[in-house]
Amino acid sequence: MSETSKVVLVTGATGGIGSAVCARLAHAGYSLILAARDIGKLEAACARLQRLGGQSFRWISVDMSSDASVTKFAQELAAKATVLNGVVLMPPQMRPTDECQPPADTWRQLFQSNFIGPLEVLKSAISIMQPEPSQGHRSKVVIISAITSVQALGNYATSNVLRCAWLAQAKTLAFAMGERGIHVNTLSLGGTLTPDYLASIGQRATRAGMTFDERLAAETSNIPLRKYGSPEEVALAVEILLSPFSDHITGVNLLHDGGFTRAY
Ligand SMILES: NC(=O)c1ccc[n+]([C@@H]2O[C@H](COP(=O)([O-])OP(=O)(O)OC[C@H]3O[C@@H](n4cnc5c(N)ncnc54)[C@H](OP(=O)(O)O)[C@@H]3O)[C@@H](O)[C@H]2O)c1
Repeated sequence: MSETSKVVLVTGATGGIGSAVCARLAHAGYSLILAARDIGKLEAACARLQRLGGQSFRWISVDMSSDASVTKFAQELAAKATVLNGVVLMPPQMRPTDECQPPADTWRQLFQSNFIGPLEVLKSAISIMQPEPSQGHRSKVVIISAITSVQALGNYATSNVLRCAWLAQAKTLAFAMGERGIHVNTLSLGGTLTPDYLASIGQRATRAGMTFDERLAAETSNIPLRKYGSPEEVALAVEILLSPFSDHITGVNLLHDGGFTRAY
């Protein structure tokens, strides 16, 4: 099977990182199924991608915080009878918080939208993967995570917990599905300069009475590479994890953080 015939589901496809991932994979010749909530953004994203290549770009709307929406997504995915070669799973972005003991309802909502919902989406995607490892056909799952998967950060109190849950889930799936030729790896991001993240740096600069560049230099001064990542760099890492590069790699958590994480 040639690279050009491969079909990949990308969730969070209209966001800062998802848009870059879709553009990169489109350039590489993949056909894509985009998923997010906003139908207008999904249609616009597919129209933009169509101008990059002749392969197929389709979308399915899903709200990961809603069981009903996730069930409908699974039905639509199955109805399209698509065989998936890969999934790039992006649970919705979590807001920073230093509230380490949030109310039970907050936990319920967060686990629903950031763990249970995305996991059900992943389950429906895996159900239409048809790897044939004996023929060299492997299916790849890349779960976008964050560096809170390997270290607790004070201002990401809820992310600390949910990212660890994802790490354990990814490892469990990798262990269970390796024999079938389904690979599951996570890509844990540090700060990444999406439009929203750029805006948040600008807000922190204003609050601190600094220019944007002063604030950016201060925030990245403890990162060995002295910079945040770009969505395009993330997209390249995703493409590589989907490629034959990972044909003997599963269950790894790749840190994409400029060296910020000190632990071995
Ligand atoms: N940017 C960073 O610095 C950074 C750092 C570490 C990890 N990450 C992770 O990278 C991933 C992408 O982040 P990003 O910065 O690209 O976020 P973003 O720009 O906010 O995009 C989020 C995407 O998810 C979709 N989405 C949001 N809520 C959803 C829901 N309930 N159900 C289904 N889709 C939903 C959004 O579209 P709709 O609103 O239309 O649904 C959008 O496509 C996230 O998992 C994030 O946690 C980002």
